[in-house]
Amino acid sequence: MPASPEFVEGLFNQLAPVYEKVSVAISGGMILHWYDLLFKTLDRIYYLKSKSGKPIKHLDIATGTGYIPLWTWKHWRNKVSVTGIDLTEGMLKIARLRMPNWEFIVGDALNLPFDSNSFDVATVTFGLRNMEDPAKAIFEAYRVLKPNGYFLVLEVVPYPNHLLQRLFEMYVGTISAIAGGILSGNITPYVYFAGSVDSFFTRKGFENTCRKAGFRKIEVLPMAFGGSILAICLK
Ligand SMILES: C[S@@+](CC[C@H](N)C(=O)[O-])C[C@H]1O[C@@H](n2cnc3c(N)ncnc32)[C@H](O)[C@@H]1O
Repeated sequence: MPASPEFVEGLFNQLAPVYEKVSVAISGGMILHWYDLLFKTLDRIYYLKSKSGKPIKHLDIATGTGYIPLWTWKHWRNKVSVTGIDLTEGMLKIARLRMPNWEFIVGDALNLPFDSNSFDVATVTFGLRNMEDPAKAIFEAYRVLKPNGYFLVLEVVPYPNHLLQRLFEMYVGTISAIAGGILSGNITPYVYFAGSVDSFFTRKGFENTCRKAGFRKIEVLPMAFGGSILAICLK
């Protein structure tokens, strides 16, 4: 069962100051490698889009503390502007401090407050799984992208192999939850995170939903033996 937006917002408001550090710690640093793959892909897409000479508009959905925009700010800010949207004000406050000239707004990924065909690139990293209706968020991302726009997703998905899934559940349900609880001072979010993977799309289910939303080219790269994905979808 997906959690309510109020519950999710409450969790992330509490976690905001320590969110990034704890995520790196409980993933054993693996999350940095996954982000790195996304940044390499973004680099290629920005390069392609920059050939038109027009400014590139990027929407980061469920942006949190702005980890994805921060990379763009450091490497591409002369050619790209990022708008970040998130339910949680506490997370956005940190993003605004880091990137004062960019817009970070409170809003819902299931009902994006933007016109259709507005952005060249949209991203969502580790956000879909926390949403009440992730399929609706994928349809919304499609709507706000321009034709030939790219939608990139990083997410944790159930392992296709049952044994690996059981081992993963044991890890996130015990070691990771306890470590997250100790490091952040609150175990509740990490117990919730442990349960949120099982009810999320499988890799195949995710791909089918992107196809239904209208994306014409979809590449879903498995990582960590299939327990997480980097998806690259073209409108
Ligand atoms: C795990 S954090 C990831 C943040 C960021 N993308 C990153 O990679 O560091 C998930 C974020 O999703 C946001 N979120 C959850 N449901 C949302 C929704 N329906 N609309 C917008 N943001 C949402 C939460 O507030 C939280 O900041």
